[in-house]
Amino acid sequence: MAEEKQSAPVQSARVLIVGLVAVIVLLGIIVIVQAVTSSAAPVVEEGKVDALANSRDECVVCHRRTTPGIVEQYSHSTMAAAEVLCRDCHEVQPDYPGATEHEGTYVLASPTAAMCEECHSTEVAQFNQSRHALPAYVAYAGAQDLPPDLLEMYEAIPEGTFNPDRARNALFQIEGPAITRFACENCHNIGRPAEDGSVGQCQKCHLRHEFSMEQARKPETCNACHIGPDHPQWEIYQESPHGIAYLTGGDDWNWEAEAGTLTVSDFPAPTCATCHFSGFGATGTTHDVGDRLTWYLFAPISERRPGWQDNKVRMQAVCQECHNDNFIGDFYEAADAATERVNEWVVESREIVAPLQENNLLTEEPFDEPIDFTFFNLWHHWGRTAKFGVWMQGPDYVQWHGAYEILNDLAELREMTAARLEEAGIEVEEAGQ
Ligand code: HEC
Ligand code: HEC
Ligand code: HEC
Ligand code: HEC
Ligand code: HEC
Ligand code: HEC
Ligand code: HEC
Ligand code: HEC
Repeated sequence: MAEEKQSAPVQSARVLIVGLVAVIVLLGIIVIVQAVTSSAAPVVEEGKVDALANSRDECVVCHRRTTPGIVEQYSHSTMAAAEVLCRDCHEVQPDYPGATEHEGTYVLASPTAAMCEECHSTEVAQFNQSRHALPAYVAYAGAQDLPPDLLEMYEAIPEGTFNPDRARNALFQIEGPAITRFACENCHNIGRPAEDGSVGQCQKCHLRHEFSMEQARKPETCNACHIGPDHPQWEIYQESPHGIAYLTGGDDWNWEAEAGTLTVSDFPAPTCATCHFSGFGATGTTHDVGDRLTWYLFAPISERRPGWQDNKVRMQAVCQECHNDNFIGDFYEAADAATERVNEWVVESREIVAPLQENNLLTEEPFDEPIDFTFFNLWHHWGRTAKFGVWMQGPDYVQWHGAYEILNDLAELREMTAARLEEAGIEVEEAGQ
């Protein structure tokens, strides 16, 4: 009895060990089988399906060898999954502007917005109404070379007619094509007309060949252009509470949510796209980035936009998903006042240099003497920056890259003007006092 009692635990321990070994072996086999079967199944990468894995399309088959990167990127796109083909964007009639003969057909090397329009007419129409379209191009190239139909299109854009100066931009001319190809044109070609008469480059935001909505929703996309001393929206966003929320928690946001259905549970704080593009709350999705703005903030002296009251309702409906009415109302009132304060400073800068203009003490040429630069920087860098900082919550840009620099340039302009007048022997009441 005693012996039997002693050996029972030993026996059950043996059974346990044998059982465990069997379970481990079985688990091992399952893991191996799974690994083998999954490598035979369609390739899954970061949860995205390769929609072209078994494609017999001749463009795909050959280009997988010649330009594997393009096929790889396109294979993970929503459009490939929806069976949009290479030829839907690239293939054209032989007489199409810019067509080149290719493998028994004709292709465009750079498909235009006219191709996208076949399937996305709403987005293209909204985009064409915005300053991302022709106004962006006219900003450097001027309107003089636009054919009549494009000129008409440009003039039909509510914000297009704001800028009466449609000459080729002075800095653009001074710097010359060797530079501007990599500067002005790189950013402003977002609105360049193509050979076929369509306007704009959708791929500036929806990078080819993924053409992803997720990517365009991320603020880094806008940072390609909305950056730097004269329009630092990216830098401002990064120091705003909204940007901090994005930078510290954005990894968990629902980037792939269907357009038009976005709520605060997808995006606990807004990105550039949420405020300027996305359907959010009562406001619908748009590619017309002027649709929610009340001021011409980029202008030296800001004025109200046409239809600004409606625009304001649309922007505020976005804020209302996360802030209450009093908060938003107070914020807009204070930001309007700050905008007007900057306007006053820019008016003052004009009054300071007015006697020089009246007495022909400035050269005809733009940007050929230091005072031209100080006068320009005052509104173009610091005035704009202060206003953008106010509206998009960037205190450092309102203060040290904004108001403070304006005060500094006003002081310099007064001194420069006084010195020139004295040199010329002209006595004027000191302006701006
Ligand atoms: C038999 C192979 C083959 C086939 C089939 C093929 N391509 Fe190409 N494609 C090439 C090669 C090679 C190039 C040149 C690559 C280079 O210059 O580096 C090219 C270039 C291109 C270019 C760039 C043209 C340019 O002027 O820069 C486009 C666009 C293009 N192919 C689209 C297509 C489309 C769309 C199809 C299907 C209708 C297709 N290709 C079918 C091999 C092929
Ligand atoms: C939704 C439209 C669209 C589809 C679909 C599309 N492309 Fe493109 N592709 C473009 C655009 C737009 C450009 C021009 C980008 C630019 O100029 O910056 C381009 C450029 C190219 C170029 C020339 C640029 C380079 O870097 O060599 C090639 C080659 C090309 N595509 C091949 C393909 C192939 C192959 C497929 C199918 C696997 C495909 N494209 C599908 C829109 C498309
Ligand atoms: C032949 C029709 C067709 C053409 C041409 C076309 N698209 Fe698409 N596009 C689609 C379809 C279909 C979808 C998927 C819609 C869906 O699933 O909701 C789509 C989706 C998209 C999306 C959303 C992607 C996402 O992540 O959900 C973007 C952005 C887009 N297209 C941009 C473009 C651009 C830019 C062009 C031109 C260069 C273009 N498309 C040309 C049919 C087309
Ligand atoms: C880094 C990208 C970038 C570069 C480079 C750039 N711009 Fe701009 N530019 C912008 C953005 C973004 C705006 C819009 C600012 C806003 O609305 O807040 C703008 C606004 C403007 C405006 C005012 C709007 C208008 O249509 O009147 C003019 C004029 C202009 N740019 C001309 C130029 C010229 C000329 C050059 C080259 C000498 C140039 N830009 C270089 C991005 C750029
Ligand atoms: C300045 C950046 C920008 C440019 C340029 C741009 N888009 Fe978009 N696009 C976006 C953003 C941001 C979204 C996502 C909107 C959202 O959050 O719902 C988007 C979404 C889309 C969608 C999906 C919309 C839906 O309702 O499913 C399509 C299609 C699209 N864009 C097509 C285009 C076409 C075509 C062009 C060129 C005419 C273009 N885009 C140019 C930023 C851009
Ligand atoms: C490739 C460069 C480029 C990219 C990328 C870009 N923009 Fe712009 N954006 C411009 C230019 C240039 C202007 C000014 C156009 C002009 O001169 O009239 C502008 C103007 C604007 C305006 C002012 C419109 C108005 O009516 O005054 C808004 C708002 C804007 N962009 C938002 C965005 C957002 C949000 C994104 C990212 C989703 C973005 N942009 C991406 C170049 C760009
Ligand atoms: C919380 C919402 C919000 C976010 C996030 C946001 N903006 Fe804005 N943005 C605004 C408001 C509000 C204005 C001023 C509107 C007005 O004029 O009434 C503005 C103005 C602008 C303008 C000035 C247009 C002009 O008149 O010159 C540009 C350009 C712009 N935003 C681009 C961006 C970019 C790029 C980002 C991301 C880096 C961004 N915004 C992030 C709300 C936002
Ligand atoms: C998706 C939600 C969401 C939207 C939409 C949104 N905000 Fe915010 N906002 C936040 C969050 C989160 C904070 C950070 C709150 C905190 O500081 O605790 C914030 C903070 C702010 C602040 C405080 C800034 C500071 O320095 O204390 C202002 C001002 C503001 N938002 C204005 C706006 C305006 C104007 C709009 C619309 C154009 C807007 N917000 C849209 C979520 C949002």
